[in-house]
Amino acid sequence: MLPAMADHPVLFLPGPTEVDDELRQVLAMPVVGHREARFVAVAQDVCRRLGWLYQTRQHAAFETCPATALMEAAIRNFVPAGARSLHLVNGAFSLRWHEVAVACGRAAEALNVPLGEAPAPALLRQRLQRGPAVAAVTITHNETATGVLSPLPELAATVHELAPDALVLVDCVSSVGGAEVRFDDWRLDFAFAGTQKCLALPPGLGTYAVSQRALDRAAGVPDRGFLFDLPHAVADTTAGKTLATPCVPLVFALQRQLQRIEAEGLPARWTRHRALRDQTLAWAAARGMRPFVGDAAARSPTVSCIDANGQSVAELARRATAAGFVIDRGYGELRDRAFRIGHMGDHTAARLQALLAAL
Ligand SMILES: Cc1ncc(COP(=O)(O)O)c(C=O)c1O
Repeated sequence: MLPAMADHPVLFLPGPTEVDDELRQVLAMPVVGHREARFVAVAQDVCRRLGWLYQTRQHAAFETCPATALMEAAIRNFVPAGARSLHLVNGAFSLRWHEVAVACGRAAEALNVPLGEAPAPALLRQRLQRGPAVAAVTITHNETATGVLSPLPELAATVHELAPDALVLVDCVSSVGGAEVRFDDWRLDFAFAGTQKCLALPPGLGTYAVSQRALDRAAGVPDRGFLFDLPHAVADTTAGKTLATPCVPLVFALQRQLQRIEAEGLPARWTRHRALRDQTLAWAAARGMRPFVGDAAARSPTVSCIDANGQSVAELARRATAAGFVIDRGYGELRDRAFRIGHMGDHTAARLQALLAAL
């Protein structure tokens, strides 16, 4: 059968996500030299717009890298050797940040939460009261592996109350641009994402926001590395002068996409994502399937993880493929038990309905 809506399989993956035609045309542009005035102006504009996306008046920039590189950058810049970092772990990606810190030789401590649950502020409170002191706490806003949204404002407030010197480092990879993120209001110190999730662009750029307090802290940390020396990287990139050669077409496409997101409006975009989740979960419920995440407040607006309840996930995936769509069969130990539909980026209710009808 021919694809339902496009000339290619349409991605309902939890990343990478579907890229609109208009953006694909920008990506096909002739390459511009990254020291040309035209690129410098676009890079500066992209940094300003990223500040708006993350809702910060502090600093925002990008680098040509996968999002994981920014986990590593955060550890090397904000956790001095010998200091302790605390990692809230409730799935594969939150676990990765702990693994990165261990690989960087830091005294990394994991605070584990069962799969499918969000870390509770009360659990963090107990740990911070108990000690020992930590230099930073890492939080995964949206655990993509299981479709869990963490109560980020409450978790950040808990850190500020009980460990005022600890930096709040946040993985917003599958939330920013799809779920509410308010960097300044929630007093975050570092937040990052790739382009391949709610920004609905191909993978290749890491975007981030960083507080002045975090940059001041980093300036005193030795051995921060070279490309990801954040105090320098932020100054250079916001001036439009990336240290190394960036993925030029993707920077132009990010500018266009940030303009499009501005036209839609952030609150409208957050509302659309919640509506796509509700549409997905209503479809699942009507067929006897339950969300993998028990707590309704923790169900991600950008990716739904659905317990197949004995139905064949392979068959669902086959039907999706036959109709011109791609869904995910479940991450890690959940494969073929709890499948994921990524409804993030620029998807519409009509396109989601076409997928659900095919399933
Ligand atoms: C929450 C989260 N963090 C980090 C990553 C890693 O991103 P990347 O593959 O761009 O390094 C992903 C990728 O799916 C993710 O979902």
